[in-house]
Amino acid sequence: MNVQAVGIIGTGKYVPERILTNQELEHMVETSDEWIVTRTGIRERRIAAPEQATSDLAYEASLKAIAAAGIAAEELDLIIVATITPDTSFPSTACLLQDRLGAKKAAAFDLSAACSGFIYGLATASSLISSGMYKHVLVVGAECLSRITDYTDRNTCILFGDGAGAVVLGEVPQGRGFRSFQLGADGAGGELLKVSGGGSRLSPEGAAAAGGHYIQMAGSEVFKFAVRIMGGAAEEALYKAGLSKEDIDLLIPHQANIRIIQSALNRLNLPEEKCMVNLDKYGNVSAASIPIALAEAVEEGRIQEGDTVVFVGFGGGLTWGASVLVW
Ligand code: UT7
Repeated sequence: MNVQAVGIIGTGKYVPERILTNQELEHMVETSDEWIVTRTGIRERRIAAPEQATSDLAYEASLKAIAAAGIAAEELDLIIVATITPDTSFPSTACLLQDRLGAKKAAAFDLSAACSGFIYGLATASSLISSGMYKHVLVVGAECLSRITDYTDRNTCILFGDGAGAVVLGEVPQGRGFRSFQLGADGAGGELLKVSGGGSRLSPEGAAAAGGHYIQMAGSEVFKFAVRIMGGAAEEALYKAGLSKEDIDLLIPHQANIRIIQSALNRLNLPEEKCMVNLDKYGNVSAASIPIALAEAVEEGRIQEGDTVVFVGFGGGLTWGASVLVW
């Protein structure tokens, strides 16, 4: 078998222009800027324009990632879009994106693992390249969470935002690239974070009675799960890579809550400056959180060649994932 070193050769992000601030939310539900900032770290989030859907955000981020990789869209072999807010249940958002990009050679599918979806996508793409099956794979995390957010529910509406991040995976020199993946799921916790409608379980009327197509979340249960899983998943990925906590140059965690990130930093003995945090600007963008943070870290020059970067995320399913990458 032809085993190649596989890494990220291009990154890109796109966030919609419209900013929804905590102050605006104060007029929509019974909340305060002070509560939101101290309990979550979020100050504002982006909201897609009425005419924008997830594939539109994915397209803008993908154009940048493909340009940064120095390839043409026609050179892509596969497109994976991690999302819980596809434009439609089918055709997949990945197929819509494939057409828009003119990536004629690429196979395309959506991946559903909620906020862990981007890391699940990286693991899938990386394996398909290292096996020799494909050369270039576009992995996108893209969400329009505002479309499934109930803006009368203060437990959820303060958290979520819209945006997209994209990466191109390809061959890199030996010694660099992905070193490990650690993926997990606990379906028993599925009820803690869900959208009831839109699938085959409920009729449209039944779904409407059960909360429709809005996100429902048992916040503090998900919080406890996240605190339990984040540090441990990162440690397991480091162990698999033959590395230790001290080797981390930059941690890029799922951007859900600053207190969850803080607990992971404590467990990993990591100072704040070795962690990418941008949830103050974008809130929780589910599968798009990590690739947006990665693209921003690259833009800000926070990652140098040879750096050890660790991704870690958790989300609905329940799911989690971590990965170690030498840049
Ligand atoms: O990507 C994965 C998706 N989800 C997550 O990552 C969410 C994980 N969970 C969390 O981030 C936190 O649980 C929340 C931010 C959602 C909530 O924070 P918390 O510290 O766990 O608060 P809580 O749910 O225990 O609620 C504490 C109090 C409650 O009032 P009472 O019952 O003590 O009187 C809530 O009703 O805070 C109240 N509360 C609010 N107050 C003002 C809940 N939401 C708000 C709000 N503004 N927006």
